[in-house]
Amino acid sequence: MAYRNATHALAALAVAVGATAAAAETPVERGRYLVETIAGCGNCHTPRGPKGEFAAGKELAGGFVIEEKPFRAVATNITPDKETGIGNWTDAQIAKAIREGLRPDGSLIGPPMPIELYRKLSDSDLAAIVAYLRTVKPVANKVVEKSVYRIPLPPNYGPPVASVPDVPRTDKVKYGEYLAGPVGHCIECHTPLVRGHRDWSRIGQGGQEFEGPWGVSVARNITPHPTDGIGRWSDAEIKRAITQGISKNNAKLAPPMGFSFYAKMRDEDLDAVIAYLRTLKPLPRAN
Ligand code: HEC
Ligand code: HEC
Repeated sequence: MAYRNATHALAALAVAVGATAAAAETPVERGRYLVETIAGCGNCHTPRGPKGEFAAGKELAGGFVIEEKPFRAVATNITPDKETGIGNWTDAQIAKAIREGLRPDGSLIGPPMPIELYRKLSDSDLAAIVAYLRTVKPVANKVVEKSVYRIPLPPNYGPPVASVPDVPRTDKVKYGEYLAGPVGHCIECHTPLVRGHRDWSRIGQGGQEFEGPWGVSVARNITPHPTDGIGRWSDAEIKRAITQGISKNNAKLAPPMGFSFYAKMRDEDLDAVIAYLRTLKPLPRAN
């Protein structure tokens, strides 16, 4: 996958640990937290400046291009601007776009927007994300270029999603699985692609290549394999990799992983993700 103009500012952001108790969060606060941290919508939807830095004041305004062999995908403006964004869509239409990949006109939203995983977003988190998107600053930014898909897209991603319950945060591993999957799509980048489909029997094995201004980065093995994965890493070392982009041997990690978003994750959510990663089947190096 080639992320054009996408050099990621690895500047360590201050870790803003939310003091708000989860239960006291309003939907808008919950949505803001998800979008600005683990979901990292802006990692694709916010345009970038010449050095790959996020364009100031243009959060979620679209125009960022992600190029891979099967497509040249142009992320859209998802701010509430009525002319150039999604300001005229109803809440239900925005929710359907995110969880089912269908626009109000019935057209399909293509990859790499991770719809396969977003189908498992809970009803309340989906509603929270929509509520938050309504509150972001409308940015007038007409994204003229259309995505080009050189592969046939399916007519849809499956039947309409009726209802998805919340995953209880008291079940640390299950909640970590939910964060690393449906919300954060960590496992999408970190699971091998075989003829265009993720091999879900090898979650976390890595191997997928991402091309961009940084050269080529290869998603690493994040299973608990003792030598090829992160089995011998401490929790602190894994956290540092996720939030600061620094590997166990102190080497800097390259984009497109959204380190600057994950830097603002709450500690208990990082703990849940790590608890889940430690339950994955240990797998040897992919290639
Ligand atoms: C990995 C990159 C990526 C991530 C992460 C991502 N998107 Fe997208 N999104 C895209 C691309 C690319 C498109 C346009 C696809 C196309 O042209 O069919 C898109 C399209 C959309 C659309 C349709 C808008 C329109 O005008 O057609 C909405 C709504 C949307 N994304 C919302 C979100 C939200 C909310 C999040 C975070 C929860 C998110 N996206 C995360 C890449 C991404
Ligand atoms: C857009 C793709 C993408 C997403 C999303 C992503 N990663 Fe990564 N990740 C990568 C790539 C590529 C590397 C290797 C970078 C390099 O080699 O410089 C990496 C590296 C890592 C490493 C360092 C491993 C090592 O051996 O140094 C860890 C740990 C990790 N990712 C965990 C996660 C977690 C947890 C999430 C979700 C919160 C996540 N990643 C989301 C692409 C991604």
